[in-house]
Amino acid sequence: MLNKIINGKKIANYLQKKIKKKIIKKVKNGKRRPGIAIILIGNDSSSKIYVKKKKIACKKVGFIFKYWNFKNSVKEIEILKLIKKLNKNIEIDGILVQLPLPNHINYKNIMCSISYKKDIDCLNPYNAGLLFQKNSIITSCTAKGIMTLIKKYKINIIGLNALIIGSSNIVGKPISMELLASGCTITIANKHTKNLINYTKNADLLVVAIGKPNFIKKSWVKKNSIIFDVGINKMPDGKIIGDVNLKSVYKKISYITPVPGGVGPMTVTSLLENTLITYKKYYKN
Ligand code: GUN
Repeated sequence: MLNKIINGKKIANYLQKKIKKKIIKKVKNGKRRPGIAIILIGNDSSSKIYVKKKKIACKKVGFIFKYWNFKNSVKEIEILKLIKKLNKNIEIDGILVQLPLPNHINYKNIMCSISYKKDIDCLNPYNAGLLFQKNSIITSCTAKGIMTLIKKYKINIIGLNALIIGSSNIVGKPISMELLASGCTITIANKHTKNLINYTKNADLLVVAIGKPNFIKKSWVKKNSIIFDVGINKMPDGKIIGDVNLKSVYKKISYITPVPGGVGPMTVTSLLENTLITYKKYYKN
């Protein structure tokens, strides 16, 4: 039987090894290492885990990694000042402010303050606008990770009905634009969508990013559909599970990303790839 599991971890490891080789070569030739700066505000345990994963990946490929963790009460101006400094720092090619932000920090102010040349998350409105126009060199990390998996597994998605559940700036909207640009007919569902099952049952390709453990089951999905599970839900026993019940849907579908080991490692890898792009395009090395 065809293996239906899309192994994001394996592809991510392969791509990270390739990046590592490139960096070794650059350093040998006297070039500087690419650098990422991450800013985390507050103590959210999931955000800390994500940041740790990004740090491990940076170290693995030989990038410089700088990290600031501010108290939840930090003033916005402090963050803006730091970003201003990092925009000028010649060792830093990518700046990421981990989401979600505390309520008193203005999302737009933060994203606009990150130079579009260092916006490895594609959240600065300039880059996000270019993505909207199918014209950006940086694309959003989770969306980029999913598109890489589609290419690596040689899945033909032209003409498919794609349903994206979740309309966030960081996942739902960018993956919708990528799938649209790749020839899918897209539907974006959100928390107000009525009779969601009517949409899921007709979706050839499903991207689920809602943060509800095991929400999508066999009766919800179309036969032979392709599923990308972006959910990362920590259960009381510490186990991480996705938004899709893999066991329940497995026999019916044609491809699925597991959680963990599917989209997550690809998001981190895309962050490294984006940093390499800004490093090459905008900065003297
Ligand atoms: N929070 C969860 N995932 C991400 C991400 O990829 N980027 C940022 N900035 N915040 C996140």
